Formats: sequence, structure tokens, C-alpha cells
Amino acid sequence: MSEQENSVKPWGGRFSEATDAFVERFTASVSFDQRMAMQDIRGSIAHATMLAAAGVLNEEEKDSIIKGLQDIAQDIDSGNFSWSVKLEDVHMNIEAELTKRIGITGKKLHTGRSRNDQVATDIRLYLRDEIDLISRELTRLQAGILDLAKRENDTIMPGFTHLQTAQPVTFGHHLMAWYEMLERDYGRLHDCRKRLNNSPLGAAALAGTTYPIDREMTASLLQFDAPTRNSLDSVSDRDFAIEFCAFASVLLTHLSRASEELVLWTSAQFNFIDLPDRFCTGSSIMPQKKNPDVPELVRGKTGRVNGHLISLLTLMKSQPLAYNKDNQEDKEPVFDAVDTVKDCLRAFADMVPAIKANKAAMYEAAKRGFSTATDLADYLVRKGIPFRDSHEIVGKSVAYGIEQAKDLSEMSLTELQQFSNQIDQDVFDVLTLEGSVAARDHLGGTAPAQVKQAIARAQEALKARES
Ligand code: ARG
Repeated sequence: MSEQENSVKPWGGRFSEATDAFVERFTASVSFDQRMAMQDIRGSIAHATMLAAAGVLNEEEKDSIIKGLQDIAQDIDSGNFSWSVKLEDVHMNIEAELTKRIGITGKKLHTGRSRNDQVATDIRLYLRDEIDLISRELTRLQAGILDLAKRENDTIMPGFTHLQTAQPVTFGHHLMAWYEMLERDYGRLHDCRKRLNNSPLGAAALAGTTYPIDREMTASLLQFDAPTRNSLDSVSDRDFAIEFCAFASVLLTHLSRASEELVLWTSAQFNFIDLPDRFCTGSSIMPQKKNPDVPELVRGKTGRVNGHLISLLTLMKSQPLAYNKDNQEDKEPVFDAVDTVKDCLRAFADMVPAIKANKAAMYEAAKRGFSTATDLADYLVRKGIPFRDSHEIVGKSVAYGIEQAKDLSEMSLTELQQFSNQIDQDVFDVLTLEGSVAARDHLGGTAPAQVKQAIARAQEALKARES
């Protein structure tokens, strides 16, 4: 009956009837938190090692616990472990299995700790592992962008404001704007890792423990920078999960913006770039279609990541100290944010170096939109005409160009001189697209010479990451 059934539960002692079958399922987290099994085992090995150093376990007990945990890790790794909902979560499943394997000593592992500090430790270790993988993938994407920017350093395209042709820029310069966005994301990820990397182990349920534990030791065994400083805060803090999701939201916002540009640029109307067939799919009804599904999907996935951030903020907003079962709800948003970020980064890192720029179409588009009008205005200012007047003169020249279907650079000197007698032959140096981009020759400007330096600096920065 009930008593017997509940005896499987490590907390069953004070209960006199079995858990309702639905409640058992409702409260269990093992279906998803088994993802942290390896981190749980690492945490337990560190805890047991420390308990032995503190004299709470003897050497033999410690060795047997560690050996048992390592065997379990191997079985989980090879898929030979059966998880039980009756044992609620990853922590109790592993602990119960340890006791099954090594006997009574297994029951001593939980001395001086609680699932509350255990889960707080596990999720930090898990997220730290994932952050390190994500950091590498982000770096791979940044390196890919630099390679493409280098290739396209001299490729001229229209720069837009309001999605209207504004001034010519180089494709390399545009790509370096993407690079800068991702560089800030990299900084955010590493800030998150820094604050995450403190060990809550030893906070126990909420108040600490009566055993002579060494929190510095477990912290250092688990490569944390230090132990956390307040036991109540340690078991209730999920800021690191929120910060990670905030990072993910901003990153996906950036990838979504880049995706939007890729989608526009692959359209027949823009025709600026080609994505290789392997990153596109077709239509089941329209045989001519080649759809940019990968960037579209990345753009779409931004929504779910934003959702996870809001879930976590809402989850935490009214919780009193210290641990509450609510916190079990932190895992699925974090896990899905991790998976989504990794997939989107991978898609981008694979796809970006394979982008083929359609240089002729980009160049034509830059020419079509009177993109050197500002250059003509600046030219007139240099000849002594006040900017507002030169703006007016150029406006009239553009109206004439629209009427005649001619770009400014295609007009004859006489045609241009109708609008101002200050215009000379040297005007053509500034009206060409090449002249226009080359003239913006200062830090952060689109001149190919500047972009080349920006790429070189970025390449140095990425190299420095390797060490
Ligand atoms: N599965 C739980 C979680 O994810 C572990 C901690 C449970 N602690 C407790 N006191 N019930 O948060």
C-alpha cells in the first residue's frame, strides 16, 4: 500500500499515503532535468571529496561513492539508465541508483547538502558548459563574417535609411556592422558567465549546514571563482538564467535583423546575393521558387527566445526567499534558449561564408538611387556655398535626373552647371560611387582603407580570444 510505495522516495518518512499519481507526474522534472545528469554527478563527486576532507566521510566511503557515481555516469552516457518519475528529478534518481549499487554508503552522500543548493549548482555548471560552447560558435560566426568582409571590402552597395537608398557603402562595411553587434553579444555572454561562476554548494536548504564543510574547496574543485556569500540568496538566485536569456534575446534580435536583410537581398527585386542551394528549400507548388528558409526560421525563432526571457522574469518576480518549487520552471526556458541559440549560430556560421555577392546588381542599385547627392552637396560647400543652398541646388539636380532618367554621374558638365556655376570638371571625382566611399576616410567610415583596418583589428581581437 501507500507506505510501501512512498518508501521509494527519499523524503517519504513523514508521509502516510502515496503521492497522487497525477501529482507525481505534475511535480516531476526528471523528463527534462536529466539533461543535467553529468553536472549533477560532478557536483556530487566534489561534495563527497570535500566531506571526506572534512572528516564527515571516511576514505573508503568517499571512494565507493565516487566509483559508484562514475559508473552511473557511464551508464547514463551510453543510454543504459532508466529514469523513474517516481523519483521526481535527476538528483533523486541518481542518488537512489547510487544506493542501489553501493548500499548504505550511498545514503551518506546527501549529508550537509540539500537539493536546493544541489540544483542551483547543477544549473550553473550546465549553463557554464553551454556558454563555453556558445562562445566558440559565436567566435566561429564572427570569423566567418570577417572572411566575407575581407573578400567584399571593395564591393559597393547602396546604404539605406528608411530602406530608401541613402549613400553608397561597401558590402565589407555593412558586414562589419553585423560583426560589431555580435561583438557586444560576446561581451554580454562573458559578463553573464562571470557573475554565474560562483558556487552555491553548501548553502544547503537555505540556512547553511551544521557540518564542518569547506565551501572554498567545493568551489575550487568545480572551477568556480568563489563560493556565493549568502545562503538564502544562493538557493533562490536565478539571475544568471535571466541574464543568459537576455543575452540570447539580444543575440537573436541581431541575427533576426541580419536574416531580414538576407531575405530581402535574395529576392529577385534586390538580387544582391545568392545563398547556396543547400541553405534553401523549394516550393511544392511553384517550381521556380528557392526560398531563404534558414534566415526566415532564425528570424522566427527570435520570438520563442524572447518568450523564455519573459517567462523567467515573470517566474522570479514575486518569489519570497528562499527556494520555492516555482524554480523548477526555470529549466525548460533555459534549455530551449540554449538549443535555439546553438542552432541559430550554427546555421549562420555555416551559411555566412557561403554568401555570394552579386557585385554588379549591388553597384547598379547604388547608382540608381542618387546615392552621391550628399557628395555633390558637400562639394558645393567646399566651393563656398552654404549647406542649405547647396542642398537646394542638389535637390533640383536630382529632380532633373529623375525626369531625364540619369544619375548625377551620368550628366554632362553643362547639364550640371545649369544648377550652379560653381560646378567644375573635378565634380566627377566625387560623383562616382568609388569616390564617394573613398572620401569617408575616418575611423568608422566606409572607405575601403578604413574597413580594411577595422577587419585587421577584429582579426587580432579574435586571435587573442584563443589564448
Ligand atoms: N527538481 C527541483 C528543481 O528543479 C529540485 C529541487 C527540489 N527541492 C525541493 N525542496 N523540493 O527545482
